[in-house]
Amino acid sequence: MGNILQKSKQNHRGSLQRKHTNSGKQLQILQEYLAGCSEDKSKIIFEEGHQTILKVCKQYEIDVYECIFNTDAFPPHIFDDTWRVYYKGLRKFVPHYFGYEPNPTIQDKFNVRLQNLLDIRKDLSKGLLIDNQPVQIKPVSYLDLKIGTKCVLKSLDSPDYEEFKYLDDSTTTITYGFRVTGYCIFENCQVKDYLCEDFSQTRTYDQVKQAFTKILTSQSGQIAPRILIERLILRIQELEQFLRQYSRAVILGSSLFFTFARDYYDEYELYDSQLKIVDVNLIDMCHMELMEKTEDKDWGFIKGLEETIKLLKDIISEKYDKTAEKQIQFKHGV
Ligand SMILES: Nc1ncnc2c1ncn2[C@@H]1O[C@H](COP(=O)(O)OP(=O)(O)O)[C@@H](O)[C@H]1O
Ligand SMILES: [Mg+2]
Repeated sequence: MGNILQKSKQNHRGSLQRKHTNSGKQLQILQEYLAGCSEDKSKIIFEEGHQTILKVCKQYEIDVYECIFNTDAFPPHIFDDTWRVYYKGLRKFVPHYFGYEPNPTIQDKFNVRLQNLLDIRKDLSKGLLIDNQPVQIKPVSYLDLKIGTKCVLKSLDSPDYEEFKYLDDSTTTITYGFRVTGYCIFENCQVKDYLCEDFSQTRTYDQVKQAFTKILTSQSGQIAPRILIERLILRIQELEQFLRQYSRAVILGSSLFFTFARDYYDEYELYDSQLKIVDVNLIDMCHMELMEKTEDKDWGFIKGLEETIKLLKDIISEKYDKTAEKQIQFKHGV
């Protein structure tokens, strides 16, 4: 794979680099929009208009995006069909990739330019008119859920190994294949609840479920419409089924990045055609371990997706089915 990644660099660097540096957009670091971020928060920068972000990353991550978005550029002797299907299939689950540029101030690091997932407009070209008024998009709440039953990216001899292993051992990672690394809930355009890498607050399944429940609840205290939660489930199921069938690598350290426009839950039908009121994407493609055999599958990641689906279904059943049950019991005087 080293070779494949190397080739991708040679093939695409020139054009993408020009495309990016010609954009001339202003940059902004919006720290309140970052949750699951362990190191330097200035490594994510929002570009003017907030439709794209720049992430300072290693060459590795760029190579992964190159493979996913330029799959067809690789001749069959580099990518056989199984790889092509895998990378192409991942494309619909990750933020759109616009290219990269070397960052001259940090050695070995680059800026990758990606779609800003907090920009929830559905189709910019159609404009955003409701009753002839543009929708004022309120801040979008979000949650970063690191997926996989093993998230240690350090080698055994690294001084940080133990610390990373401890996070796996002491959180929901090993048992459920997910852990919350951060979230941010906005209310009245202000940060109402914010958490970043404080695992004491999301160590158990119930704490994770509580975080999801909070973010799925509108300002008025109503849980998000069932259909919206089901949409999240469907998308995760689609990713899960895809990986069950076409995995070619173990995805390590990546997250499901959920976005929730809580201000629109109550009147979702009005806004649904124009805004992605809830959404989930795969971010942080920082490490992939390639599989030798096509029959191998990314089981740790698949487990995390299954458990996430189960958790969301649990919330639906608690908030909807149980309420319906109670109403029926009440009607019948039980
Ligand atoms: N495409 C994106 N759109 C919006 N926010 C993003 C996007 N990518 C990353 N972020 C924000 O930045 C945080 C860190 O990004 P991530 O790619 O996970 O980097 P790392 O974990 O390597 O620091 C995410 O948890 C999220 O809050
Ligand atoms: Mg991350």
